[in-house]
Amino acid sequence: MSPDPYRVAPPEPHASPDVPRLTPLVQAHDLTRRWGRGSSAQLGVDRVDLNIGSGELASIVGPSGSGKSTLGALIAGIDNPTSGSLVVDGTRIDSLSNDRLARWRGRTVGIVFQDFHLLPTLSAEENVELAVQLADRSVHRRERRERSRDALASVGLADKRRRLPTQLSGGEQQRVAIARALVTRPRLIVADEPTGSLDQASGHVVFELLAGLTATGTTVLFITHDPELARRADRQIEMLDGRIATHTAAGIDMSPLVAAGTIDEQVAR
Ligand SMILES: Nc1ncnc2c1ncn2[C@@H]1O[C@H](COP(=O)(O)OP(=O)(O)OP(=O)(O)O)[C@@H](O)[C@H]1O
Ligand SMILES: [Mg+2]
Repeated sequence: MSPDPYRVAPPEPHASPDVPRLTPLVQAHDLTRRWGRGSSAQLGVDRVDLNIGSGELASIVGPSGSGKSTLGALIAGIDNPTSGSLVVDGTRIDSLSNDRLARWRGRTVGIVFQDFHLLPTLSAEENVELAVQLADRSVHRRERRERSRDALASVGLADKRRRLPTQLSGGEQQRVAIARALVTRPRLIVADEPTGSLDQASGHVVFELLAGLTATGTTVLFITHDPELARRADRQIEMLDGRIATHTAAGIDMSPLVAAGTIDEQVAR
C-alpha cells in the first residue's frame, strides 16, 4: 500500500518527559501594563517577575480586576507591555512590532477564551481549518482538513465536526476552541477562564484536555476563578492589584525566593 501523501504526522513532542524542565518558556521581568498617565492611570499588571517552565501547567487566580487577563494577554502576545521585558519561547516579544508579534503569535501560541469565539457561520471543522490557514497559508487544503479532523478527534468531537457552533453544547464549543488552539501545534496555550461559562462536568473535561497537552511538552497557562482546578496545576499564581501575591511551584513557595533575587527558581525546583 502506498503511503498517503496527506497523512498528518502525529505532533512532535516538544520535550521528553524524562528531560528536566530547566528552560523557562516564559520569562517576565518587571513587566508592567498601564493605561493613561498620572493620577488617572489604570494599572493592569504592576512590575511582575515570573518564570514558567516549558511543559508546565500554570494556573492564575485572583479577584476580578486583579490583572489575570492583562497578564495572560501580554504573555500570549495579544497586547504590548508598557515596560519590562518578556521572553516567550526564546523570543523577546515586549518590543516586537504589531506585524511581527502577530506572526510570532501564529507560530507559537494557541488562545482559548471564556466565550469560545467561534465563527457562527462555519462548522466545527471549518473553524479549526481556518486557524491552520491563518497560521500558515502554504498548507494544502486537504492537509488543513486532515489536521482539523485529527484535532477534533483528539478532543472527542470526530462525530460532530460538521455541526455549526449553535448545534453544539457550550462544553462542545469549548472543545472545538481547544482543537482550534492546538491544531497549529503551539508551544504555549493561554486559556482565559475557559471553564467560566461551563457547568462543572464540562469544565472538568475542558480542564483535563488542557492539562493533558503538557504531556507532549506544551506549556499551558490556565486563568480561572475555580480554586479547586487551580490547585491541580504544577505552578500556582495568585494575583492581587496587578501583582503576584502568592506563587507556588512543585509545593515550594516561590515568592520570597524570587523576591530576594538570589535564587534561580528553576534550580530551586
Ligand atoms: N483597556 C483597558 N483600559 C484601561 N484599564 C484597563 C483596560 N483593560 C483592563 N484594565 C484594567 O486593568 C485591571 C485588570 O484587568 P483584568 O481584565 O486583567 O482583570 P482580571 O483579573 O482578568 O478580572 P476578571 O476576573 O474580572 O476577568 C482592571 O482594573 C481593569 O479595569
Ligand atoms: Mg479576566
